[in-house]
Formats: sequence, structure tokens, C-alpha cells
Amino acid sequence: MADQSNTFKLPKGWKIIQPKSSEEWELYYGLRYEILRKPWNQDKKTTKDEWENKSVHFLLLNEANEAVATGRLQLNTPTLGQIRSMAVHHDHQGKGIGSFMINTLEKEALQRGMKTLELDAREPALPFYLKNNYSVVADSYLLFGIIKHFKMKKDF
Ligand SMILES: CC(C)(COP(=O)(O)OP(=O)(O)OC[C@H]1O[C@@H](n2cnc3c(N)ncnc32)[C@H](O)[C@@H]1OP(=O)(O)O)[C@@H](O)C(=O)NCCC(=O)NCCS
Repeated sequence: MADQSNTFKLPKGWKIIQPKSSEEWELYYGLRYEILRKPWNQDKKTTKDEWENKSVHFLLLNEANEAVATGRLQLNTPTLGQIRSMAVHHDHQGKGIGSFMINTLEKEALQRGMKTLELDAREPALPFYLKNNYSVVADSYLLFGIIKHFKMKKDF
């Protein structure tokens, strides 16, 4: 599981959900776009990919029903999952919320009987994943021509 020293507790009125309604999907994809695409002037349509229907999506909402964080478990094979779409709202980064989301995705993966989780980490996020006990296994792709990625994994 993720770093057990993570002490983030859901504040009163906050909830972690799997989006279902159109409003919830809008909030979910809105935050993914805001954090993972917009800063690099990418088009909104680049937010979604061909794996959306083969993933379990999680959205953290605050007491005002605003999106705080997203995360997604991509179901690569029955035993191999991939962590994707990790995004924490700018106002809430560095408070343990990303680790809380990793924990949520790992619990989902374990319940499904997965044995390994992999991910492609953006270089600035590398310390975050190392802290959550993921290991670098290889260099990965260059996003938008500038963001270096590292392939990381954790076995259970
Ligand atoms: C990366 C991200 C998901 C991490 O979530 P977060 O809520 O900010 O991280 P946490 O507060 O849970 O951090 C957990 C640990 O990782 C460390 N950490 C997090 N981001 C870090 C960074 N950029 N550099 C160094 N350490 C970092 C924290 O210091 C913390 O360690 P600590 O408990 O010893 O203080 C979030 O910052 C984010 O959305 N960033 C922008 C989008 C992005 O890069 N997503 C990942 C794409 S692969």
C-alpha cells in the first residue's frame, strides 16, 4: 500500500466517488484538463484517451461539491493495473491528498486481485511516487515534446 505515514483524513463533507452523473463527469474531466493539459495549452479533447472505458475513475469532492483531486486505475490485464490521471487542485497540493488518492487506487487494485501497478511519472512528480514506494524501472516517453516521464511500478 502507499506510504502508511500519510495522515490525510477526509474533512467533514468531503467524499471520494466514482463519477456517474453528467455533472460529476464534468467536474472530473474539468480538473484533469485544468491540471494535466491546460498549463501546456493543450486542447480539451486531448484530456480523454482510448482507455477511458477500461478504467475505474475516482473523484474527490469537497463540501461545496468542487473537484479537489482525480485518479484513475486503468485495467491493463486482470493482474496488471496502471495508475493514471493523478491530479490535485493547485490549492490543495502538498497536503497528503495525492497519497490518499494513490491509496484509494491501490485498494481498488487489490480488491480486483491485481499483483502489479505501473505508471508513467512526469519528472516533477517522481519524488511523490518514490515516497509512495514506486520504483523506477525505465525511462519513458516525452509528453508535449518537453515533459520527461519515467516508467515506475510496485508489486503486491
Ligand atoms: C503530483 C501530485 C498528484 C501529488 O499530490 P500531492 O497531494 O501534492 O502530494 P502529497 O501531499 O500526497 O505528497 C506526498 C509526499 O510526496 C512528496 N511530494 C509531492 N510532490 C512532490 C514534489 N513535486 N517534489 C518533491 N516531493 C513531492 C511530498 O513532499 C510528500 O512527502 P511528505 O509526506 O514527506 O511531505 C500533485 O502535486 C499534482 O497534481 N501535481 C500536478 C499534476 C501532476 O504532476 N500529476 C502527476 C502526473 S504523473
